[in-house]
Amino acid sequence: MNADNLLYGQTLPRALAPKYYTSPGVAEDEVEKIFRREWLCVGRSTDWPAPYDYRAFDLAGEPVVVWRSRNGDLQAFENVCRHRMAVIASDGGNARTLSCPYHKWTYDSTGALRGAPGVADELEGLSICLPRLALEQWQGFVFVNVDANAKPLAPRLTGLDELLNVYRLAEFEWSTQNTTRQCKANWKIVAENAYEGYHITAVHPDTLAPYVSRQASPPPGEYWSVSYEPRKSEFPPCPGDPPGLGTRERTDAYTIGIFPSTIINVDGDTINWFSTLPQGADASTMFGGMSKRSPAGPRRIGDTAELSEAEFQSWAGELVLEDVLICESIQRGMQGAYASGGPLIAEQEGSLAAFHSYIKNQLGY
Ligand code: FES
Ligand SMILES: [Fe+2]
Repeated sequence: MNADNLLYGQTLPRALAPKYYTSPGVAEDEVEKIFRREWLCVGRSTDWPAPYDYRAFDLAGEPVVVWRSRNGDLQAFENVCRHRMAVIASDGGNARTLSCPYHKWTYDSTGALRGAPGVADELEGLSICLPRLALEQWQGFVFVNVDANAKPLAPRLTGLDELLNVYRLAEFEWSTQNTTRQCKANWKIVAENAYEGYHITAVHPDTLAPYVSRQASPPPGEYWSVSYEPRKSEFPPCPGDPPGLGTRERTDAYTIGIFPSTIINVDGDTINWFSTLPQGADASTMFGGMSKRSPAGPRRIGDTAELSEAEFQSWAGELVLEDVLICESIQRGMQGAYASGGPLIAEQEGSLAAFHSYIKNQLGY
C-alpha cells in the first residue's frame, strides 16, 4: 500500500463529519432515535445488594429509577410522578416506598401508588402506577431501555460472550459506583476515545503507555467493539488464582464498547465501566464504577503489583483527566471552518468504523 492510499485511499473508512458532533439537530435526533430506544448500562447487579435498594438516573433527559423489589427482582421505572410530573427519587438509598417531593404521593416497590395526602377516596380503584421500563441483565451488568418494545439485548452480544464467559463476570461479588464527571465534548467523542487504544502512546505517556503494548484487536460486531490491551511482558499477572483464568486473562486487559455508550474494561479480577450520555451537542456526562471478584482484591497498575487505594485513585484521576482534556480539545477542533473527518487507521480504529456505521443506521443519515 503506498502512502497516498494509506492517507487518502477510498478503501479506508473516514471519520464522521463534524456536524454529527456539533449540530443541535443531530443531538436531538440522537435522543429520540438512540437514547430512547437503545440499551444503556446503569450499573452492576451488585450495586443493588439488598431488597428495596434503589438508584435514580438521568438517562439523556429520561428520569429513571432502578429499584430492587421485596422479592429481589431488579426493576426500572420512569422516575416521574403520576400527579404533576415532578421527579420522584434523587440519588439512591434503600426504601420500601418512594414519595414525590412535591405533594407526597407515595409509591411502593411495585411502582403502584399507595397514598396521596387528602385524596384517598378519589384515587380508589384508579390503579395508578409508575411506567415500567425494560431492564435486562447481561454478564452481571444492568441495562435499561426506555422503549417498551425493544428487542432483547443478549442476542446482540453473543460474540462478546465468547470472549468474556471465561471471566465469569456475573459471579463478581463486590462493586461500587464511584465516577460522575462532566466533559465539554459530544458524547460520541468520549465514547470513541474509549473504544480505541491508538491514542494511548500520545495521550497517556506516563499513566498507561509504559504498561500497555499494542496488538491487533478482534474485529468488531454490529453492536460492539473490543480493544485488546496486552500488558508489557514485565507486568505481573493479577494476584491470587481467579477461577478459570489462564495467564493471558490474568495479565492482559480488554476494553469493550457496547454501542451506543457503554465502556467496560475487563482486567483479570477487576472491571471498570462507565456510560457516557449527551448533554446537548457539545457536552456530556460520564458515570460509572468498579467491580471486583471479591472486595479484598488489591489494586494493580504500574510497575508494582499492588497500590494503596489512595495511590490507585490518584492514578485513575490523572488518566481520566488526560482523556477529558483531549476530548474537549477535539470538540473545539470540530468548530474549525475546514474541519473534516480523515481516514481511520484500520488496525487501530476499526472499532470506530463499526461505531459510525451503527450511528448512521440509527439516525438514518
Ligand atoms: S407532582 Fe408528585 S405529588 Fe404532586
Ligand atoms: Fe485514553
